[in-house]
Amino acid sequence: MCGIVGAIAQRNITPILLEGLRRLEYRGYDSAGLAVINADGKVQRTRAMGKVIELEKALDRQPASGHLGIAHTRWATHGRPAERNAHPHQSGGLVVVHNGIIENHAELRRQLQSRGFTFTSDTDTEVVAHLLAQYYGETDDLLSALRLTLNEIHGAYALAVMHQEQPQALYCARMGSPLVIGEGSEEHYLASDPLALLQVTDRFRYLAEGDHARVTRDGCEIWNAQNEIVERPISRYEHAAHSLDKGDYRHFMQKEIFEQPQAITDTLAGMLADDHVLTAVLGPEAENRLADIGNIHIVACGTSYHAGLVARYWIEEQTGLPCQVEVASEYRYRQVVVPANTLLITLSQSGETADTLAVLRHAKTRNYLATLAICNVAGSSLVREADWRLLTHAGPEIGVASTKAFTTQLVALLWLTTALAQVRGVPAATLKTNLDALRSLPGLVEQVLTMEPAIIDLAQRFANKHHALFLGRGAHYPIAMEGALKLKEISYIHAEAYAAGELKHGPLALVDEDMPVISVAPSDSLLEKLISNLEEVRARGGQLVTFACETVDHQSGEQDVTLHLPNVPDCISPILFTLPLQLLSYHVALVKGTDVDKPRNLAKSVTVE
Ligand code: G6P
Repeated sequence: MCGIVGAIAQRNITPILLEGLRRLEYRGYDSAGLAVINADGKVQRTRAMGKVIELEKALDRQPASGHLGIAHTRWATHGRPAERNAHPHQSGGLVVVHNGIIENHAELRRQLQSRGFTFTSDTDTEVVAHLLAQYYGETDDLLSALRLTLNEIHGAYALAVMHQEQPQALYCARMGSPLVIGEGSEEHYLASDPLALLQVTDRFRYLAEGDHARVTRDGCEIWNAQNEIVERPISRYEHAAHSLDKGDYRHFMQKEIFEQPQAITDTLAGMLADDHVLTAVLGPEAENRLADIGNIHIVACGTSYHAGLVARYWIEEQTGLPCQVEVASEYRYRQVVVPANTLLITLSQSGETADTLAVLRHAKTRNYLATLAICNVAGSSLVREADWRLLTHAGPEIGVASTKAFTTQLVALLWLTTALAQVRGVPAATLKTNLDALRSLPGLVEQVLTMEPAIIDLAQRFANKHHALFLGRGAHYPIAMEGALKLKEISYIHAEAYAAGELKHGPLALVDEDMPVISVAPSDSLLEKLISNLEEVRARGGQLVTFACETVDHQSGEQDVTLHLPNVPDCISPILFTLPLQLLSYHVALVKGTDVDKPRNLAKSVTVE
């Protein structure tokens, strides 16, 4: 979603801002803009519809340089994508960029209009610009103006602000949307995501909820919501060593699919001993309280939700603990019953998804045993605010469609299942099956990824398709859901997933010779039932595409395709069956010619509700 970059230095900061915006492109946006205070001491603002390259072209036509500036990529919420709605927004000599939503913008707009302010956009953000300008006019002090403004706005925000009369500092604030301050040598930066600044620094201070700050060339001062000066420690960015370019791959998504063996190896590092899992990675408090857990709620969005659904099968089967899984946008508004000793697991690649974070924050007022964040970003809000944490180490994921983040979440969840089983005294043989299976995963993932050439051929069949059905049973039903989500996200083919047993309750009516039906058929206890479901599809002329274990002897009809995966232990089978579905959606998207890494209308990290 929206991205923020800011910088203050002795040198011209326009290239830093532009490179920052390029690095945030993966998050999804529809327009971009920047403002600097130029050599004449005036705000110079440039905005453009579309990609960052359009902004660069505008800057080629009319160059802008300065020692401080702020920049933004906008994903439209209030007001359609248009240059006049692009950030920065300006009120006289004051400019602001904003991520989030100002909920009371309509009322503030009316008040400001009645005081004579003229609005030039349809955004909620413009009220912030005028409020700041109004209070700056009254106080002559940007810090006071910021504080007075923050008192009036409700909602979620990360803000970066500057004024041409105050060229020695940038100001910023956060509530509900992430913001970091980057530390350089005699220069400082701001960003909504540290990835935007890795070209200039790997040292960051993460602002906490309610913080605001003044950032100068030489340092920064940070205050909390009570206006008390606070120290936020500097952390080194963990993933700095990961390559952030595509290398020899055509897209980030393809690169990230093929990074999965390494991502899984990195995630498991230090977590397994020969015959037990090393629960110490959860921290001492969590380790001591694992045995007290009597119930589990898993809450997430999108692909992460699908990982949670798989985990429910594992947890219930291997530990006997009741486990409930729900999308965060529903869970947060339901009168959820929280039985005694419930562990709340919030699951998120980015750790900044608004609905998931809201659930975690609300949990503090309820009687959960504890909250656990499973996340791929160490410095994220989710990780910092949860009681316990379990990190995946997939490295930065740039493609909007999540791949390696999903499989590493599954790995973390299978590890957690094993840890819970261990403290509950399950037989050593059961633990060993999981441990051996986890250890064998990176090699098996590599083996399954060699299916790519066969999937490239298969993808051609989807060139003219508009719909697809995905079927699975048991822990592979959420894998079918994930396969359908991937296909629709990046190829725009309408795809739906069903538990195969539900076929006769409606979706069978859709099946004809134009409908591809993709199923995941591992060699498990539900295989025979699944095969009966597939026969029902074939009898109606549907085109069957089946991913099956090599020992599954499923007769294909003339129109059908069956591709085989190795036979693997049941517990890791969902992870391996995910891979051909990722490859299929990727290659179908190539056939369709869509923007694979940045599909239309979608954002990598959904930081507003
Ligand atoms: C967006 C992304 C998805 C992601 C979902 C949840 O919709 O496009 O890929 O699965 O958000 O994100 P999270 O960071 O919480 O896992």
